[in-house]
Amino acid sequence: MSLVISISGKGGTGKTTLAGLLLRTLLDNGKNDSILMVDADPASNLQEVLGVEVDKNVGVVADELKKKIEKGELPLGVSKADLLEAWVYETLVELPDFDLLVMGRSEGEGCYCYVNSVLTRILDAITKNYDITIMDMEAGLEHLSRRTDRDVDIMLIVTDPSSMGFKTAERIKELAHEVHINVGKIYLVGNRFPEELIGLLEEKAKNMGVEFAGSIPSDPNVTRFNIEGRSLLELPSDSPALKAAEKIAKRIGLLN
Ligand SMILES: Nc1ncnc2c1ncn2[C@@H]1O[C@H](COP(=O)(O)OP(=O)(O)O)[C@@H](O)[C@H]1O
Ligand SMILES: [Mg+2]
Repeated sequence: MSLVISISGKGGTGKTTLAGLLLRTLLDNGKNDSILMVDADPASNLQEVLGVEVDKNVGVVADELKKKIEKGELPLGVSKADLLEAWVYETLVELPDFDLLVMGRSEGEGCYCYVNSVLTRILDAITKNYDITIMDMEAGLEHLSRRTDRDVDIMLIVTDPSSMGFKTAERIKELAHEVHINVGKIYLVGNRFPEELIGLLEEKAKNMGVEFAGSIPSDPNVTRFNIEGRSLLELPSDSPALKAAEKIAKRIGLLN
């Protein structure tokens, strides 16, 4: 089994937080699944939330390849795709409990559709090596045109209690159907909703025609860890946000 989960939504709604909480939940439950975390947000900060040092990302090696193509400096006898694939694998951070791939940002000007399509293919291939892949997507809608999350089994769309949060969630859902070849189940996830508004959130999910996965409460531990720059993987296990993430993991079938 190799399950791919993407997390999208408006900026600041809690995508990265949810990614960290879901990973922590999986680790706490001691399932022996191999897990790949993908930071697909160019403004990447998943590494801090997971407490991992990353020195090179995919955007950087893609830029190196573009430069070599422009200067005609490619080694003979190696295809560009093979070279890029080898370099992407070198950026993969392998840890005892999970691996992390940071997509980063590509600085190059102009259309490098070739490089982008090769990257999408490489990412597809890498996810096949893991039982579970969790992708922390770019804010808003851009990732849908880049199609980083082309084949996902579970799409989690996060919203905060704001009309822009819901609007972005609705657009993501609509566009996902337009551009995705393969999207499995789509769920709406709330973050920082007051208890008394969760009914409203469920109703919104129903109106959108997506499943409701649950909601993460505003959690002072999460706030404190963020300010202190500490990893959510060290969050106290009785933290409300963590409990909620466990429920979500069960509801979407990540845990029994
Ligand atoms: N449930 C929560 N409780 C407390 N703080 C939260 C919660 N969810 C998110 N935050 C904080 O809100 C900010 C934005 O969250 P983040 O996960 O980075 O959003 P996104 O990845 O969608 O841009 C961060 O400072 C994060 O610590
Ligand atoms: Mg984020």
